[in-house]
Amino acid sequence: MIFWDALFSERAKALKSSAIRELLKLVNQPDVISFGGGLPDPKLFPVERFRECVDVVLNEHPEEALQYGTTEGVPALRSLIAERSKKDGIKCSPENVVVVASSQQALDLVAKVLINPGDVVFVEAPSYLGAIQAFNAFQAHMIPIPMDDQGMKVEVLENRIKTLRSSGKSPKFIYTVPTFQNPAGVTLSHERRLQLLEISNKFNIPIVEDAPYHQLRYDGEPIPSIASLDNNGTVIYLETFSKILSPGLRLGWIIGPDEFIRKVVLAKQATDLCTSPFTQFVALEFTKRGYIEPHVEILKKEYKRKRDGMLSAMEEFFPENVRWTKPQGGLFLWAELPKAVDTNDMLKEALAAKVAYVSGTGFFPNGGGENCMRLNFSFSSPEVNREGIKRLSEIIKKRVSA
Ligand SMILES: Cc1ncc(COP(=O)(O)O)c(C=O)c1O
Repeated sequence: MIFWDALFSERAKALKSSAIRELLKLVNQPDVISFGGGLPDPKLFPVERFRECVDVVLNEHPEEALQYGTTEGVPALRSLIAERSKKDGIKCSPENVVVVASSQQALDLVAKVLINPGDVVFVEAPSYLGAIQAFNAFQAHMIPIPMDDQGMKVEVLENRIKTLRSSGKSPKFIYTVPTFQNPAGVTLSHERRLQLLEISNKFNIPIVEDAPYHQLRYDGEPIPSIASLDNNGTVIYLETFSKILSPGLRLGWIIGPDEFIRKVVLAKQATDLCTSPFTQFVALEFTKRGYIEPHVEILKKEYKRKRDGMLSAMEEFFPENVRWTKPQGGLFLWAELPKAVDTNDMLKEALAAKVAYVSGTGFFPNGGGENCMRLNFSFSSPEVNREGIKRLSEIIKKRVSA
């Protein structure tokens, strides 16, 4: 008999199961209305255009698409990503781009090349659960920085850095999802982006900018990415096809300084040799044919409708003492219930009423968020979302009055 528990590495022992991944199982049960996952609407997947691109790839590039590829990614896709990023103001060449198996792998690789056990990493409070998992796996010591409706409070960050420095420690990086943040739905203001860069330069701490949602803006003016404002190579930029095309592609990219990218490539080699050349060729074809932009327009129109429907259902049904964010884009909003309500505990009742959400605690590495929940509005139709909010509001009202 093997005692696996005794064999697990310290790193493996730090791994915990995630509420989100458990919840994804519930999404597949047809009778549960789930606000839980971060799923795009599957009815909007551009199936016909994919079919067309797959055919082209198999006709024109069968040998390269079905073969192993280079770890850095298909050269034509790297060039295309670099070219498009330059148009968005990011200073880069194809050599600064690594194609990865989506942003989650990017987070894992960033952690793998930068974090030693106990290293300090700053994250937003709340922060993306998958990033917390990835950083946890490499035994990071995460310090959450509070946010308001302008995003991360950068003055608090600066104070924390100074305190840390005075105790002889130096943080490894600052992780942020600055635009339509997962889970809070808030966006870091332009002014704070500049301040964040100033802090990064002053203390020589890199920023990891995770930007899966920035193209999904439903109102307001676009704000430049932190990477595009960076003149000193302090930003590591992560993007993905998951939310603008399909998460099933498992395709994303990292843009970073030469030295960092070279190390990431070595780390990735050990992880999976290369990202699927087949999906890279399909995404390349999709992009070259000019199909992304019109598809993003469709997503924006539909998700805006869903967001609006969700917000008005919340206005209509939720009790007065519940607060929530009003995101200008992305897939999520964040609700804060009265302090006495424990959303983890309440989840059982919600599931009995066939409605699911993610309770706030998973988004805080060191506790917090007990009375909060993340709600996704992109997956279901506005009608289903409305019914879900109605069910949820009944449960909240019962809890609040208790
Ligand atoms: C902020 C953030 N980063 C990364 C990811 C991972 O996305 P993917 O691995 O599909 O690119 C997600 C997914 O929800 C996310 O919200």
